[in-house]
Order: sequence, then structure tokens, then C-alpha cells
Amino acid sequence: MALYHIRKYRDEDYETVRELYSTGFVEHLHAVCLQALRQPWAQLSLVGVFCVLLASSRSLLGSFLGLALLLLVAREGVRFLFEQGIQLGLSEDLQDIRKSYMQGEESCFWVAEIQECIVGTVAILPAREETGAWELKRISVRRAYRGLGMAKALCRTALDFVAARGVENVVLFTSMVQTDAHQLYRSLGFHKEEEFIWPSLPAKLINFMVFKYRYRVPR
Ligand SMILES: CC(C)(COP(=O)(O)OP(=O)(O)OC[C@H]1O[C@@H](n2cnc3c(N)ncnc32)[C@H](O)[C@@H]1OP(=O)(O)O)[C@@H](O)C(=O)NCCC(=O)NCCS
Repeated sequence: MALYHIRKYRDEDYETVRELYSTGFVEHLHAVCLQALRQPWAQLSLVGVFCVLLASSRSLLGSFLGLALLLLVAREGVRFLFEQGIQLGLSEDLQDIRKSYMQGEESCFWVAEIQECIVGTVAILPAREETGAWELKRISVRRAYRGLGMAKALCRTALDFVAARGVENVVLFTSMVQTDAHQLYRSLGFHKEEEFIWPSLPAKLINFMVFKYRYRVPR
């Protein structure tokens, strides 16, 4: 018997759903910092700063400490950008979840719960940029409950929902750092259709790739 229970969103789930989204988002901070450090311009800048510090202070320890301080400041900068990303999501469809997903039969939001605690989410709605296709969104499972097949079950619930409505294509967007999710999507039958650099200056600077996946609903 499944440990968890999947049901449609209710208004009292609002705060937990938003918190689960924010937590799932921010856990990729470390991976994004590593992606930034992989960039040749970042590595060159760090070497340059280190040389300048060493030349001016003539202290190896002081130079390493200065470099560590710079890395800490840079990490806080990335955290700030993450906060903005989270606020964007919270101010879009998650601002009014009922209005975004629970009016009519054209969209839906589900939660997975264990002993009445919400531990997973998924949502689906018609895709903005492709008429006829629907978009899977807001897939998140609380860390302590991962690996139980919960995300797969949530996504299948959403895919069954659209299959019953005769939808042929489901798309979703994910990023290069959400590696756990890539395996989830492949195992559900999605294939990667497109990859592109997210159109913002910070994303361009660190070559931050976004992937578009597509699922063709079997007839
Ligand atoms: C991605 C996420 C939703 C997966 O949740 P989950 O409940 O652990 O996933 P499941 O247990 O249903 O696993 C589904 C498939 O993904 C695989 N998978 C899940 N986590 C994995 C990991 N860390 N490494 C490798 N494979 C993994 C499972 O093996 C399974 O594949 P299988 O069916 O071939 O065996 C979860 O890690 C998460 O919430 N991450 C943070 C939020 C996020 O990144 N969301 C994606 C937004 S695009």
C-alpha cells in the first residue's frame, strides 16, 4: 500500500505549498555556485584577485582569506538572485493557487500527503506558448520523502488528467542543476526537446541552461 495519498489542492494547503516550492528551489543554490565557478572568466578573475592581494599584502594567508571573503560575497549575490527567482514564482501562479489551477477543468493542482502533512506537489495547465499543449509545473517532494516514487505518482496523476481530456502534448521546463528531476522525466517517458541559455544577464554569464522536455500522451 502506498504510504502517501494524492489529492487535489485545498485552500488550507496554501502556505505549505508555497513553502515547499521555495525550499525545493533554494536547494539548487550550491549547484548554481559551482556552475559559476566552472566558467573560465570566473576562474581567471579569482586568480587575478588572488595575485593582486598577494602582491599588495605579501601574505599568503591574508590572500586566501581575502579570496574566501570574495567567494562568500559572491555566494550571497547568487542567493539574492535566487530569492528574486522564488519571489517571481510566488507572485505568478502560486500567488492565487485556486484561481490559477482550481477553476474549471482546464488545470489542476495536486498535493501528496503523509499523515495529513503535505510532502509533495504537482500542477498542470495549458501551456502559454504552445496552443494545444499543457505544461507540467511545480513538481516538488520534501527531501525526507524522496525516492519513494512520490514525484512519479504525482506526475502520473497529472498525465492521466490530461489524457482523459484528449491532450496530445505535455511540456515542462527544467534547468541544468535539477539533475534529480531529469531522471524522473526520462522515466515517465519525457524526452529533451530543446536546451537554451536562460535569457537574463546572470544566466548568460554562467551559461545557465534551461531544458524543455516533451511528453506525447499515448492514445
Ligand atoms: C525531482 C524530485 C521531485 C524527485 O522526487 P522523488 O519523489 O524522489 O522522485 P521519485 O521517487 O518519484 O523518482 C522518480 C524517478 O527519478 C529517479 N530519481 C529520483 N531522484 C533521483 C536521484 N537523486 N538520482 C537519480 N535518480 C533519481 C528515481 O530513481 C525514479 O526513476 P525510476 O522510475 O527509473 O526508478 C525531487 O528530487 C525534488 O523535489 N527536487 C527539488 C525540486 C525540483 O528540483 N523539482 C523539479 C522542478 S523542474
